[in-house]
Amino acid sequence: MRCIAVINQKGGVGKTTTTLNLGAGLARRGKRVLLLDLDPQGNLSLHVDRRPTDESATMTTLLLEQKPLAELLVPSNEEGLFVVPSESSLGGVEQILANKIGREMVLKDALERYEKDSNEPFDFVLLDCPPSLGVISANALCAAAEVLIPMQADYFSLQGMAKLTEVIELVRSRLNPALRITKVVPCMVDFRTRLTAEVLAEIDHHFGDLVSKYPIRSNVKLAEAPSFGRTIFEHDPESAGAWDYGGLAAEVLGERYELDEDEDADATDEIVEEPAPGSSEVLAAEEPAETPAVGAREVEVGTELDPDEEEALVKAMLEGEIDDVVAGTTVASTMLEDRPAPLRQDPLGRPTRLPELEAGAD
Ligand SMILES: Nc1ncnc2c1ncn2[C@@H]1O[C@H](COP(=O)(O)OP(=O)(O)OP(=O)(O)O)[C@@H](O)[C@H]1O
Ligand SMILES: [Mg+2]
Repeated sequence: MRCIAVINQKGGVGKTTTTLNLGAGLARRGKRVLLLDLDPQGNLSLHVDRRPTDESATMTTLLLEQKPLAELLVPSNEEGLFVVPSESSLGGVEQILANKIGREMVLKDALERYEKDSNEPFDFVLLDCPPSLGVISANALCAAAEVLIPMQADYFSLQGMAKLTEVIELVRSRLNPALRITKVVPCMVDFRTRLTAEVLAEIDHHFGDLVSKYPIRSNVKLAEAPSFGRTIFEHDPESAGAWDYGGLAAEVLGERYELDEDEDADATDEIVEEPAPGSSEVLAAEEPAETPAVGAREVEVGTELDPDEEEALVKAMLEGEIDDVVAGTTVASTMLEDRPAPLRQDPLGRPTRLPELEAGAD
């Protein structure tokens, strides 16, 4: 059983979205996956449409009354994906546990008991942590062997990282020697902005190889899915969000993803040097993947747009009317006048629409 704490004390960076959709991606690759909602906001429970109706069947009862995990499992709509939901009473658990000896080990003990007693073990347990570093997050860091840090690719993303890595190191040295940061996942990435390129470079600089090869792009379908109580694969299996979380799931499993697979390539898996992201070679070589979205028009790369037209285009993008800028569409050059060209498109060259689902995702 691989237990992964999805943690970042900053709010709204994509922890819950990542826990659910990574979990669903793993389940769709045939794994048995448990999601634990460790946040009193209960966002994960809502997102998976399993808001607890019975207070005695939540994370609160597991942590305070040591109710067996097996009695709390709620199946989701996705085959192989289970959740233990939460609601606001979990907020009180911090205070109650605070004065107890061994308070950090309650979750670890519960998971170990389940593993020992159950004949239906999980391949993965993902822990959706609250945006704080209290007793509940400490429980997650003691129960997990792996830490996955989702980071919003914005200007303040690295703020607070020193504190988080310090806490992880403290838990590792005192309580859980197995604990490691195994993945850093940039979330809500918008490759059209120069800021994104800068922030991703900073994240790479800090975390190097730990940074996921599949940053999660900003995708309106991911923002919509919670209100329908669906995973991204249920909500829009052909969206960029489904593509990205599918890639992350494959990466976590060490499996190849469709993007990497080239049936015509010879068996040596030779790595082909690709032109630098954003280079004129990339921008010029790529054919538009599909007809440009309404509101955009196709122009030659480097064409100066009328300032009014540019403003309208940028506004349409900010308001989400245009999902993506396809290759060959010039944007906002006057707004970025004295700046280097933005990447404008995903350097991995991922499609914004899936041509077809990856294996196992029907
Ligand atoms: N890649 C994305 N593209 C667009 N919207 C996203 C993306 N990832 C997350 N969101 C949206 O951003 C908001 C915050 O995401 P999420 O709830 O996953 O963050 P969080 O870190 O769990 O927040 P909290 O700290 O409050 O628990 C949500 O409304 C979510 O739907
Ligand atoms: Mg959350």
